[in-house]
Order: sequence, then structure tokens, then C-alpha cells
Amino acid sequence: MRIIVTGGAGFIGSNFIFYMMKKHPDYKIICLDKLTYAGNLSTLKDVMDEPNFRFVKLDICDREGVYKLFEEEHPDLVVNFAAESHIDRSIENPEIFLQTNIIGTSVLMDACRKYGIKRYHQISTDEVYGDLPLDWPDLFFREDTPLHTSSPYSSSKASADLLVGAYGRTYGLPVTISRCSNNYGPYQFPEKLIPLMIQRALDDKPLPVYGEGQNVRDWLYVEDHCKAIDLILEKGTVGEVYNIGGHNEMHNIGIVKLICDYLGKPYSLIEHVTDRKGHDQRYAIDPTKIHEELGWLPETVFKDGIKKTIQWYLDNKEWWENIISGDYQNYYQEMYGRSEERKNEGNYFSRRLL
Ligand code: NAD
Ligand code: TYD
Repeated sequence: MRIIVTGGAGFIGSNFIFYMMKKHPDYKIICLDKLTYAGNLSTLKDVMDEPNFRFVKLDICDREGVYKLFEEEHPDLVVNFAAESHIDRSIENPEIFLQTNIIGTSVLMDACRKYGIKRYHQISTDEVYGDLPLDWPDLFFREDTPLHTSSPYSSSKASADLLVGAYGRTYGLPVTISRCSNNYGPYQFPEKLIPLMIQRALDDKPLPVYGEGQNVRDWLYVEDHCKAIDLILEKGTVGEVYNIGGHNEMHNIGIVKLICDYLGKPYSLIEHVTDRKGHDQRYAIDPTKIHEELGWLPETVFKDGIKKTIQWYLDNKEWWENIISGDYQNYYQEMYGRSEERKNEGNYFSRRLL
């Protein structure tokens, strides 16, 4: 099998590449990534020289570039992780979310139509269902829950899902979609809740909890997500949507306190800050379909997963320190010796967090 993995220099995409290279050493993996502020090529350094791996710096919206790559590689599968993924950024500047998450998805699927494909798989999110109330704990997102988005980010992801469905029905493209709950684990960019809190607690900086911290997220260890995607590629039914989640709901404040406890830091670091605009209350996945149809179950319980994750950030300080300093953005030029101009998008990160 030859797989194009888009967004493979980001958090989940890189973990998926590591998982697939171990599980299927006979597959060729082509990672296509634009290396935005969220893409970190150093994450892929251990696989970069493997003969069955190729990295291509490319924007999924670049039609000509994408078509050329398909002509060169003749992929059997495309798994689309590439996206602008952070809600707070989408509230500040929606446009790039519409461009990458919607237009980029259509360009990839046009390439699949033009050159032929065994499967196009869209990595979507539970956020397309909107949110659930906090006082109705037996309500869950099912695959037939109506799309009802809140943020520019989730709206762009839902739009992409609709397009994927349309390409399946109109052109007969063999598509599948998965909608996963919040992931955590190694290599997550430290603008998201868990790595942000770990990194800031280690530096004894204030821990900014939005509002009262009562919002609920359903956390899944990233490797369990990767296993689910592999199963959908192997056994999933074309045209179907699969929800992925492990019934692991936590209040934000509970997570932040747990991180303080593990790191031996005082709760006095916690600072309640202005709430996110349109902040979704609760996400909770019903994973019955993927369990019953494909036999998937999460393997990592939260108390083990969070310990492993914290330990990873302790053992890989250089990785996140390079992000905070902005040095990670030089890695591509150093690797490839190009003097290409890159906007220092990391400035947003520095402005907000330092
Ligand atoms: P991420 O922000 O860590 O990584 C995104 C990657 O996509 C980066 O490497 C970036 O350089 C690349 N990219 C962005 N725009 C691009 C473009 N135009 N062309 C090519 N590459 C581009 O995101 P993540 O957390 O790994 O999320 C991956 C996917 O999973 C996204 O589609 C997201 O919507 C979805 N998802 C994420 C979560 C989560 O908890 N992180 C949960 C459910 C679904
Ligand atoms: P995040 O990791 O951004 O994921 P998502 O918004 O996609 O669920 O945020 C997880 C939760 O943590 C969300 O309810 C917002 C909250 N949060 C904070 O309280 N403080 C922060 O600094 C961040 C980044 C998030």
C-alpha cells in the first residue's frame, strides 16, 4: 500500500505515521505537510531516512503541487489530517480555516478522482456535533447526531465532512470519515490544554483556565485514535462515518489539578481567565458503532495515559522549548539548506504565552 498522510508533521498525523510504520513496514508513507506554525519537521526525524518514507513540503490547497505528487506516487490511500486545528486561532482569524479545512479537502478529493484511489479518509472531529449540556450526562454524540457547530473551526470541519459525503455520493469516491474526541499524548503543540498546562506548570507560570473550568471534554490517548483509523482503513465500510472516543469525560479544572498533582505544583498557579467566546460545554462520544462493527476499544486508561504524556514532556523538554523559542521553524531550512522566507507565525504563540 502507498499512503499519502497529510498534516503528518503535526500532533496526530505524526503519531499515525509512527504507528503505521511499525504496524505495516511494507507500506510506503508519503507525508505531505505545509509546515505551518503547527507543523514541526523535527518530530519526524527518526523516520526521515527510512526507505519507505518520504516527506514533501506542500500546501493541500496547491492543486498543481498535489496533482504532481499523485502522478509521482500513485497513492492507494489518502488520510487527511492537514487542518488548522485550534479553536482560539479560528476565533481570531477564521479565513485560513476555511481555506485549508474546506478548499484543501476538496483539492485532495479532486486529485483522488483524477488519479483514482482505493480510499480517501477524512479525519474529522466530534466538534462538528456542537456541544451537549452539562446537566444531561446520559446524552452522547452518535453518528446520526445532527451537525450543529459553534466555532469557525468546527464549522470548517463540518463543511469539509459535507463535501466528503457529497464526493462519495456524486462521484462515487470511496470515502470514510472518522470523528474523534479530544486527543492527548506525545508531540501535541503546546497551545492545547494538556501540553500547555504541563509546560507552564513546569516553568511555574500561571495556568489560564477559561471561565470556571467546568467544561467537559472526552479524552482519548492518541495511539488509540491511530489504531482506530488503521482499522477503518482496513475494515471500514465505504461511505460510513465512525465516531471514536473512550468514555473518558473530565472537567478542564480536574485535568489542570491532576497535572499540578503529578508535577508537585500548587493549585495557586491556576488563574481563571476570561472565557472563550462561544465555549462548547461538553463533548461526549458514543463509540458503539466502531466497537460493534470493527471491534475497536480504547486500550489506554486516562490515569496511565496522562502519566505517560507528562513523562514524555519531561523527557522531551528540548522539543517544546524549541517551539516556545520559535527555533523549530528553522529546522526545515537546516534540513534542506534552503533560504526560503517563512513568516514567523510563532509570534502569535510568543505574544500569547510568554
Ligand atoms: P495539528 O495542528 O497538530 O497539526 C496540523 C498539521 O497540518 C500541521 O503539521 C500543519 O503544518 C499541517 N497543515 C496545516 N495546514 C496545512 C495545509 N494547508 N497544507 C498542508 N498541511 C497543512 O493538528 P492535530 O491536533 O494533529 O489534528 C489533526 C487532525 O485531527 C485535524 O484535522 C483535526 O481537525 C483533527 N482532530 C484533532 C483532535 C485533537 O484533539 N487534536 C481531535 C479530533 C480531530
Ligand atoms: P483545547 O485543548 O483548545 O481543545 P478544544 O477546544 O478543541 O476542546 O481546549 C480544551 C478545553 O480546555 C476547552 O474547554 C478550552 C479549555 N482551555 C483552557 O481552559 N485554557 C487554555 O489555555 C486552553 C488552551 C484551553
